[in-house]
Amino acid sequence: MPRSRSRLKTADLIGRVVVVTGAGSGIGREVALLCAQRGAYLALCDINDAGMADTAEAARARGAQVLTSRVDVSDAESMTRFAQATFDGFGRVDLLVNNAGVGLVGGFLDTSAKDWQWLIDINIMGVVHGCNAFLPTMIESGHGGHVVNLSSAAGLLANPQLTAYSATKFAVLGLSEALRMELKAHGIGVTAVCPGIINTAITQNTPIRGDGDGDERRKRLASSYQKRGYTPERVARNILLAVDRNRAVAPIAAEAHLMYVLSRVAPPLARWIATRMAEFSK
Ligand SMILES: NC(=O)c1ccc[n+]([C@@H]2O[C@H](COP(=O)([O-])OP(=O)(O)OC[C@H]3O[C@@H](n4cnc5c(N)ncnc54)[C@H](O)[C@@H]3O)[C@@H](O)[C@H]2O)c1
Repeated sequence: MPRSRSRLKTADLIGRVVVVTGAGSGIGREVALLCAQRGAYLALCDINDAGMADTAEAARARGAQVLTSRVDVSDAESMTRFAQATFDGFGRVDLLVNNAGVGLVGGFLDTSAKDWQWLIDINIMGVVHGCNAFLPTMIESGHGGHVVNLSSAAGLLANPQLTAYSATKFAVLGLSEALRMELKAHGIGVTAVCPGIINTAITQNTPIRGDGDGDERRKRLASSYQKRGYTPERVARNILLAVDRNRAVAPIAAEAHLMYVLSRVAPPLARWIATRMAEFSK
């Protein structure tokens, strides 16, 4: 995996400012709390007010100063206002974590144009809006920093029951790799994080398309994520490790590492495995 010098080290985040989108649940919440524990100021956004308030309260209990904002990441103007409030409140941003994202289970033939637009607006344009809103001032300040974009193991190896989701996460990976090359001159690192199966509320929030009993399929999905047992706390620790090491691509959990390697060294085998895996979500 490519590796180069990053200016940001996360062991001590005292005086550093961390922005997390989708901080009201799962991976975003745990990244926020870990950064709070390490001394960071936090700027958090989500559309889930209750979840975000819980995260903010837990972060303040760890001694952090926290700014929260209700932002739909698919709305560019709202993201710009959030960035303005962050720079007004804290004066700088060191780490931008474009985490907010949504899932959708379904093959291509079961996915409507409306579903595609919803996923594209949040999973791709949410990352674009986050970068657009924060990067110019980060670059202008000249102190470097880091951007983390949440892709997925489904952004490394396509899955025929996650067609539209996979497409958006491949896009996030491509965007992140290009952005990393562009921002190197400004001392800003970029990491595409590709988690495998992580036990979060995503299994409850993800629409399920296609034939079959939706409730039954959701139960099976949630139970397989629970059995896998990989926690968002562990993901948060690995994300900060990837920032410290300035990784270009950070697969997280064994299955994501396997999918990363197989998709590069044995694509036909990787596709065979992905097809078998997709059977579980039908
Ligand atoms: N859980 C997994 O197995 C897994 C695997 C790979 C990648 N990911 C990615 O990790 C990220 C976080 O997922 P998670 O598992 O923590 O899910 P989650 O559902 O627990 O949390 C996602 C958060 O994003 C927020 N959000 C959704 N749409 C939003 C919008 N339009 N604007 C602002 N906030 C919004 C939700 O309200 C929620 O608080 C996502 O990008 C997801 O695709 C998750």
